[in-house]
Amino acid sequence: MKKEDLKPALLNGARDELAPGLSRRSFFMAAGATGVGAAATMLGSTSAKAHSTDWLQPGNNNHVIDLQGTTGSAVEGAVGVDFFGHCAIKITSPGGASVLFDPWRDDPSGAWGLWFKNEFPETQVDICMSTHTHFDHDAIDRPVSTMVLDRMVGNFEFADLKITGFADKHACVAPGWYSWTDALAEFGVNACPPDNVGHMDMVVYLVETGGIRTLIWGDNRHNPPEEFWNAIGQVDVLTLPVDGSQHILSYEMGNDIVERLKPKVVIPTHYLNETTSYTLTTLQNADEWVKAQQSYQMVDGASLSLNAREVAQMDREFMYFGHNAHTA
Ligand SMILES: [Fe+2]
Ligand SMILES: [Fe+2]
Repeated sequence: MKKEDLKPALLNGARDELAPGLSRRSFFMAAGATGVGAAATMLGSTSAKAHSTDWLQPGNNNHVIDLQGTTGSAVEGAVGVDFFGHCAIKITSPGGASVLFDPWRDDPSGAWGLWFKNEFPETQVDICMSTHTHFDHDAIDRPVSTMVLDRMVGNFEFADLKITGFADKHACVAPGWYSWTDALAEFGVNACPPDNVGHMDMVVYLVETGGIRTLIWGDNRHNPPEEFWNAIGQVDVLTLPVDGSQHILSYEMGNDIVERLKPKVVIPTHYLNETTSYTLTTLQNADEWVKAQQSYQMVDGASLSLNAREVAQMDREFMYFGHNAHTA
């Protein structure tokens, strides 16, 4: 059966209800192999409901209209970094354009349990982006955003923001005690490239604004090909998913990436933040990793203001948000 022959009524908005480990691609394959009726049974009769509530969101695009005429012009000033817990980070350009990466939610299939204490705040931003389709990174309908750029590869320019997306792959062998990547084999899919299931695809984003180049690592593997490193070039601010359980990257993998890129600033992500996340994540805080670094500071609050001239003086300075996170 061809993909086009599937009835849209069965599929509209149904991605959140797929069985654990069943990506949209494998769903199509399953439907092709067993027939739509069988696939519909797998999804359950109440699964065909829309999840996006963006059509209801307040406000409008006036802020984006105000800024779009400035596209391509550099603005000097501080770059804002706001932490919403886990991998959710908002960057605000000196010109006032804002982009939020990786808003989170609980796994809608239930397979991975309760991770978050609240729904992601309906915070207002110009752009919302996601690195990959895992539940802890893809609540793209939660922020009140004028634009959604999901898994964008290539270049995007708006106001004084330039964003480049590099396609690569998710870390596919859990380095810590919790072998969560083994579950993918139990679900019947490959975790590792080249035949990885689609949800283990990744996009790493480079954000250029205010003279600062920030790399949003997401859950990317520690060993991307040489072309990847060459393409991203120099990095000033690096976000990295390292926690005490070494869920995505081990301490050593994180340290190797820092050593290779020699960023001015490192911001830990994907760790147990008690404001937003439950112990059920199996994550731990990043204290041990951070305190083993040559230089670190505990950020007092959930916001940072970075100035290109100050950042240029730094060398692998760890800026750790700890349990701080915005909740609105
Ligand atoms: Fe992930
Ligand atoms: Fe993740």
